[in-house]
Amino acid sequence: MGAAVSNWRLANAVARTGQMGVVSGTGIDTVFVRRLQDGDRGGHMRRGIEQFPIRRAADEAIRRYYRPEGRAPGEPYTMLPMYRQVVSPARQELTMLATFVEVFLAKEGHDAPVGINLLTKVQMLALPTLYGAMLAGVDYVLMGAGIPREIGGVLDLLAGHQPARLRFDVEGLPSGAVEYLEFDPGIHWETPPAPLARPKFLPIVASNSLAKMLARKATGQVDGFVIEGPTAGGHNAPPRGEPRFNERGEPIYSENDKVDLAKIKELGLPFWVAGGTGHPERLIEARKDGAAGVQVGTLFAFCDESGLAEPIKRSVLAHAARGEVDVRTKPRVSPTGFPIKVVEWAENPAVGATRERICDMGYLRVAFMTADGKVDYRCPSEPEAAYVKKGGKLEDTIDRQCLCNALLSVIGHPQINPNGTEEPPIVTSGDDLATIGGFLGGRTSYTAADVVAYLLSGRCEA
Ligand SMILES: Cc1cc2nc3c(=O)[nH]c(=O)nc-3n(C[C@H](O)[C@H](O)[C@H](O)COP(=O)(O)O)c2cc1C
Repeated sequence: MGAAVSNWRLANAVARTGQMGVVSGTGIDTVFVRRLQDGDRGGHMRRGIEQFPIRRAADEAIRRYYRPEGRAPGEPYTMLPMYRQVVSPARQELTMLATFVEVFLAKEGHDAPVGINLLTKVQMLALPTLYGAMLAGVDYVLMGAGIPREIGGVLDLLAGHQPARLRFDVEGLPSGAVEYLEFDPGIHWETPPAPLARPKFLPIVASNSLAKMLARKATGQVDGFVIEGPTAGGHNAPPRGEPRFNERGEPIYSENDKVDLAKIKELGLPFWVAGGTGHPERLIEARKDGAAGVQVGTLFAFCDESGLAEPIKRSVLAHAARGEVDVRTKPRVSPTGFPIKVVEWAENPAVGATRERICDMGYLRVAFMTADGKVDYRCPSEPEAAYVKKGGKLEDTIDRQCLCNALLSVIGHPQINPNGTEEPPIVTSGDDLATIGGFLGGRTSYTAADVVAYLLSGRCEA
């Protein structure tokens, strides 16, 4: 769960129960440098950094970002340079280091598998992020929000420290032209280490056709699927066909959007079902349908170990326990263009806060070709004038919000704006939050182990 809601601590706690723990790789480099700037309480980042084999990158990160006393009150975070098609080796190494540390800490002290989740749409950091995770021995790579057709092959190459590339989506490319994102592990080593284990690759899909296409046409091996339905937290796949909306402005899903699990089973690969499956009976059902298990987000997002900022977690849970939360699927908020679920509740600190249009982290920027043949970048959450000047359509900016800043805010690392205010958060969750009261049974908090015990309480092994 992005950005660092499923952080190393949560993934580690889940893995200690014997299940697979998954860390989010989205924006992990910014999360990492913000933790360092906030004093690295507990010393966990530094413990991970000590293990990173490329020492100059480790030393540089400490020198530039570690603030033993934290930031002064009201002091903004030092930003990382935004990613572009080509970045310096040092920028790549910082990304590799951040991912390495997250996976290293998630794997510490147990033998259960640990995965990393990436959004396919966030293309520019994908290669160094994957490589950093592999250096720490990540066991699974899970990727949705796009069509991760080339990732299996990339993992094969990176395991052997071979150069890898991804086709780079650039709008307005002349027909027949192709741009790539390239990454050469070799430039980071004097002598590359022994080959790495190739993690298993699980695309996250919301349709039979995409699963079938990936099973047949992906480069490298696909090792299974996560099948995610539209009640899941975070981004959702849009409904198929002509978009229709209910009276709350939410996309309407129909029978056409249901994935036929019998057909998924025919592909002969293991699969996990996600979206509203955080219930023991849903796990039993999924297993009857041939699934290897379930992927659960919402219940874990609000457990003690998750990265959600404590005050937000407590406030949302207290309201949810009384049935006083509303989870809305908002089609326009996310610059990705995918619908995203947003939690609304009475004490939401974002209500009444002004959200300035901004793009200063740039993870969701889209690349385009300029009139003079260069690659430039734009995000529909940036100021309208800048977006339009770069050839973007004004209507694409309507209602878009800077998800990068909002998601850093929700995990307790909000940027401080020039006027001294904090960037407001956006809390995402699955529809299951509305009925979490039953699971809570009067509790005000619970652990990841409580969630796993609950899910397995129908005595279905998973
Ligand atoms: C707070 C939150 C953030 C999420 N972020 C991501 C993400 O970055 N990438 C992703 O593939 N899925 C993300 N998800 C979806 C989960 O990985 C999972 O598939 C989903 O939550 C399962 O459905 P459930 O919410 O009904 O349990 C997120 C879910 C939540 C609740």
